[in-house]
Amino acid sequence: MKVLDGKALAATIKDELKADVDAIRQAGGKIPHLAAVLVGEDPASQVYVRNKVRSCEEVGFRSTLVRRPATITQEELLKVVHELNDDPDIDGFIVQLPLPGHLDEEAVNLAIHPHKDVDGFTPVNVGKMTLGLDCYLPATPNGIMVMLERYGIETSGKEVVVLGRSNIVGTPMTILLSRKSDPGNATVTICHSRTKNLADHCRRADILVAAIGIPEMVTADMVKEGAVIIDVGINRVDDSSKSRGYRLAGDVDYDAVSEKVSAITPVPGGVGPMTIVSLMMNTLKASKTK
Ligand code: GUN
Repeated sequence: MKVLDGKALAATIKDELKADVDAIRQAGGKIPHLAAVLVGEDPASQVYVRNKVRSCEEVGFRSTLVRRPATITQEELLKVVHELNDDPDIDGFIVQLPLPGHLDEEAVNLAIHPHKDVDGFTPVNVGKMTLGLDCYLPATPNGIMVMLERYGIETSGKEVVVLGRSNIVGTPMTILLSRKSDPGNATVTICHSRTKNLADHCRRADILVAAIGIPEMVTADMVKEGAVIIDVGINRVDDSSKSRGYRLAGDVDYDAVSEKVSAITPVPGGVGPMTIVSLMMNTLKASKTK
């Protein structure tokens, strides 16, 4: 059984990005600059955004964190988005999700200029991805594609089952894995809360991508012997034995499932770091395309 070490792979890719930034600096070019908008105090979002900003600094990018209180109005948030759209120094930016309930995530997403949409969430980029055109690919699915490629995991002709149909992970994952590309060319099934016989679908999977947000939902009896397991879940589970009061758990019962499969991503240290490097790859691309 191989552990798909996203942390180590992300470190390798960060070294490559750093070399790219050094070359840009030597040539007197524009240093990539990412901005992240964080609204409110959601603990998980704070960690994710901090990691994104820190990773930018590690490779020599510039980064700007725009913090706003949870009480911000829709109009004020849209003004922040418009300012970032218009700021020539910012190559790309993200608005960390989820937003507090009174804010309209869809309207905020629609306000982001597609050229600066390094999350790949706007309709222009989603449409281009679907058509197989050059665009900013969403960070988590693309991070998984990079991981499959770098680990040499064959996807062509394989049965892939994706658990979860979110706009951020599940749906784009099915598009990328089924399209005519390498990695890609897989036969993809998407499962969600209304799927009947979910475990039967999972047992057919050569590659199972779990992005459903339910801690340790995928158990050993649900996976095929020798399958490849990609666990996107990062769930906080109460654990009084930990000083912080919780532990992180994936969507997959790692200990039991890892006994049965050929490869699996750990949580943390699997998909999460790949998401961040993928965002940085998009930011580098944004800084080069004007
Ligand atoms: N929340 C969870 N994942 C993501 C992501 O990839 N981008 C943003 N902006 N918010 C998220």
